[in-house]
Amino acid sequence: MSTFRWANGANPLSIDPQFILPEDKRPFLFEVAPMDSIPVIDMAMNEGILIEKIVKASEEYGFFQIINHGVSEELCRGMLDAIAAFIQLPPEEKALFTGNETKDGRVFSYFLKDENAPSKKISLWSEIFSHFWHPYTDNFIRVLPINPLEYREVSGKFAKEIGVVMDRLLLILSRGLGLKEDFLHTRLGKNPTYRAQANYYPPCPDPEMTLGLAVHTDILLLTLVLSSKVQGLQVIKDEKWLSVETLPNAFVINIGDQLQVISNGKYKSVHHRTVTNKFQTRVSIAMFYGPDEDAIVGPAEELVDDDHPPLYRNYRFAEFMEEFYQQKGLRRRVKEHFE
Ligand code: SIN
Ligand code: FE2
Repeated sequence: MSTFRWANGANPLSIDPQFILPEDKRPFLFEVAPMDSIPVIDMAMNEGILIEKIVKASEEYGFFQIINHGVSEELCRGMLDAIAAFIQLPPEEKALFTGNETKDGRVFSYFLKDENAPSKKISLWSEIFSHFWHPYTDNFIRVLPINPLEYREVSGKFAKEIGVVMDRLLLILSRGLGLKEDFLHTRLGKNPTYRAQANYYPPCPDPEMTLGLAVHTDILLLTLVLSSKVQGLQVIKDEKWLSVETLPNAFVINIGDQLQVISNGKYKSVHHRTVTNKFQTRVSIAMFYGPDEDAIVGPAEELVDDDHPPLYRNYRFAEFMEEFYQQKGLRRRVKEHFE
């Protein structure tokens, strides 16, 4: 670990060759339309219109941002500050969490493979802290950092409040499919998967040469992202990249692969990436919600008939994850994979 000389504030003037992407993987930022945005949805509006707007956004963008979601600005700021303080610790302290697969918490960085030089790994411009979370119990906080001191307490509070927001979104998304409001909740099974990924993106001397996170779709059911106000997330819309301007105190919500499958293709799991910023550090945390390992995932029977044949086969969720980790289906679209 820490090839990241920048992690403690030492921002290099030029970028180390290990971070330089091959040309076909670079972001081409000048082609990204700066004025576009994903739909902004006010969670305090009338429930009927709210469902309509969320359905439309989930069909057309696979992404939206929510405001008036009920989680305090102070708690959100506290969460992002704690993540930044932890990632900025010296490598020896973070090493307690580094690469230990048996622990729930893990600090790492992603690599990208260059198909033209398969033995070469290109580092992405981010440092990641990945762990479990849970909306109703506090057990998961035992594996979280104790430096900064408030990390565990803030994470516990944050998880509870995010759980409430996610549950409300699941009800709305279920009703948006014309189904009972507990439909998606029931589909997740007894022990849903809760993963969190904190992302730290230091300033990068040359954002055209790097990515913070590679192009991907999210593999679970639903994702909620809290980020600092620095731009970085980009989403594909009509085959063009669109830069997400996060509003103050908003969460970005996106549909994951499992929800695309369950909704039989109605809600879209859309490709996205993060880019780096030349001057500012960006911090984010993605809260993922997904099925129980043993849950059977497939298109909802209620949505399938002669006119709407199933677009995907049924599978055990663990089977999907296994293939993902063995890189068999890695980063291939659900569409291609389960047709
Ligand atoms: C992601 O989780 O794919 C993006 C998170 C971010 O906006 O940094
Ligand atoms: Fe993502």
